[in-house]
Amino acid sequence: MEAQKDILILGIESSCDETAASVVKNGRTVLSNVISSQIELHKLYGGVVPEIASRKHIEKINQVICEALDDARVTLDDVDAIAVTYGPGLVGALLVGVAEAKAISFARNLPLVGVHHIEGHISANYIEHPDLEPPFACLVVSGGHTHLVVVKDYGKYEILGRTRDDAAGEAFDKVARAIGLGYPGGPKIDRLAKEGNSEAISFPKAHVADSPYDFSFSGLKSAVLNYLNGCKMKNQPIVEADVAASFQKAVVDVLVEHSMWAIDEYGFDKFAIAGGVASNSALREAMAAACRKKKIAFYHPSPVFCTDNAAMIGVAGYYEYIAGTRNGLDLNAVPNLKLGERL
Ligand code: KG4
Ligand code: ZN
Repeated sequence: MEAQKDILILGIESSCDETAASVVKNGRTVLSNVISSQIELHKLYGGVVPEIASRKHIEKINQVICEALDDARVTLDDVDAIAVTYGPGLVGALLVGVAEAKAISFARNLPLVGVHHIEGHISANYIEHPDLEPPFACLVVSGGHTHLVVVKDYGKYEILGRTRDDAAGEAFDKVARAIGLGYPGGPKIDRLAKEGNSEAISFPKAHVADSPYDFSFSGLKSAVLNYLNGCKMKNQPIVEADVAASFQKAVVDVLVEHSMWAIDEYGFDKFAIAGGVASNSALREAMAAACRKKKIAFYHPSPVFCTDNAAMIGVAGYYEYIAGTRNGLDLNAVPNLKLGERL
């Protein structure tokens, strides 16, 4: 029998503050993964400034793509398709990646595949877990999203729950700013919480009436701000590490609780986490313990594949490509693209 030809996808990601490109082989092997982060630039402003993000993407994107091809030791002649994040995200930032992908597709006559950013995050789990195949449940927790998703098949999703207000990562970032840790707050809270007592302060764990799988983090964020203000008014010392640990526990407890309800109700035997917050050490430990107790397999990507990267877009793009998904040169950035929707 003739050996199957390898399929190489060039993935491009520019939805927020990372300009990234990657070459992925057969949907599972990452040949290169180049990420140019703008974090240092946005730190000055305490968060991502969309206009600056778009301009930086334009400056970096060609260089990042060339580096990704070089690192993979391939050229565009070897690539089978271009996969690009076309939503959701910052419209100006997304447009840079989409315009670049369309230009390469047109110039080299290569198929173009638009990828949903969340589908990318979920697909990051396939990179290091060759045994992982749908169906499974996945909790996607990032700076912009908090979704509890059933992955029915490659490219087929059902959303069980989502946040009603702030995303989990957004809550981490806002609380970090309030206790003076700076942007991005998630990794800083993660680190500081290790020195604190998670039982020191009792913060609320919000549940959404009638929607057991939905999340709400704005009340928790307000409770932390009120606690900090109360301490200042009463001239009481603030133990930042205790605030970080107690806040983190409140987030993690709710994320684990809702995920385990879904596992009990739907009977999944595989559970994955994805997105920037999936690199949180307390969340990983708590999820691993909860899954162990239920005797189900638990998956999470390495931190570099949790936060924004283009390898995950290459992986998701591969499964879309082999399913026959193709986009024309009219592909546009869709800042509020819904998961499972194709525009
Ligand atoms: O997935 P991502 O890079 O971007 C979005 O698609 O939003 O996620 C970034 C988010 C930020 O809010 C950041 O604070 C959070 O992920 N994050 C963390 C950790 N590392 C990154 N949150 C908690 N603990 C961490 N270790
Ligand atoms: Zn993301």
